[in-house]
Amino acid sequence: MLVVTTIPEARARRDEDRSEGRRVVLVPTMGFLHQGHLSLVRRARSVGDSVWVSIFVNPTQFGPGEDLERYPRDLARDLQMLEAEGVAVVFVPSVEEMYPEPARVRISFPGLDDALCGRTRPTHFSGVGLVVAKLFNIIEPEVAIFGQKDAQQALLIRRLASDLDFPIAIEIAPTVREADGLAMSSRNSYLQPSQREVAPVIHRALLLGREAVETGEADPQVVRQLMIDTIATAPAVTLDYAECVRIGDLLEPERIDSPVLLAIAAHLGATRLIDNELACPPGPTGE
Ligand code: PAF
Repeated sequence: MLVVTTIPEARARRDEDRSEGRRVVLVPTMGFLHQGHLSLVRRARSVGDSVWVSIFVNPTQFGPGEDLERYPRDLARDLQMLEAEGVAVVFVPSVEEMYPEPARVRISFPGLDDALCGRTRPTHFSGVGLVVAKLFNIIEPEVAIFGQKDAQQALLIRRLASDLDFPIAIEIAPTVREADGLAMSSRNSYLQPSQREVAPVIHRALLLGREAVETGEADPQVVRQLMIDTIATAPAVTLDYAECVRIGDLLEPERIDSPVLLAIAAHLGATRLIDNELACPPGPTGE
């Protein structure tokens, strides 16, 4: 496994992959890897012959007062895990390599980046858009794989690739969960034991919402309220949002007559967790 830290090294290795006809698949990450990331890597292995993973805690996607400094990092452990997964190249640039001077470009997603997480993290997705566009330009993968846990990010990245004509297939892989339903996330490592114990309420609320949609509840407000009431049973959990929105534009439908995204963000102490489920109404579109 090759570990590269500079853009010229990455490009040189990319050229080798190209000249030897290898299909490059990129899994972008911020490190502190868990089984969720490894499931993306395994999927990458099944769709290409040269799996690249980037590890970069991207400062432009963190807002003031967010957890940029304390974001968990353990490069040695990450590299061991990736080596064991048969990864070909790990790109681990420094902040100075990626941003030799403060970037004056941001990529905004009008109408999509102000919904859900964008309401409380107004600069987050423009930073994600910027770094993902940079990674796409540096590595030029044929395929890039992201997780469904970050459903809004996944939607925006699909738009980034299609609107900017990146010749890259974007694949979205299912969320990987702990046995009690908690979605795997590097940020779970922040949780105190008592917080970890109640955290699965987020997924329970989503499952109740999904069940309501699947059994014919067509009023998004009713579904929303059900999720809000479920979260309220755990006083240690403070809701940021619980939403029932259309998959394509993240707007709340008047009635649920096609698949919807149920999404929750909540705080446990200083830790903010997100999760989501897709839900299909019964009938011709759902079933
Ligand atoms: O999902 C993440 O880990 C990050 O947002 C990403 C896509 C690697 C960009 O920094």
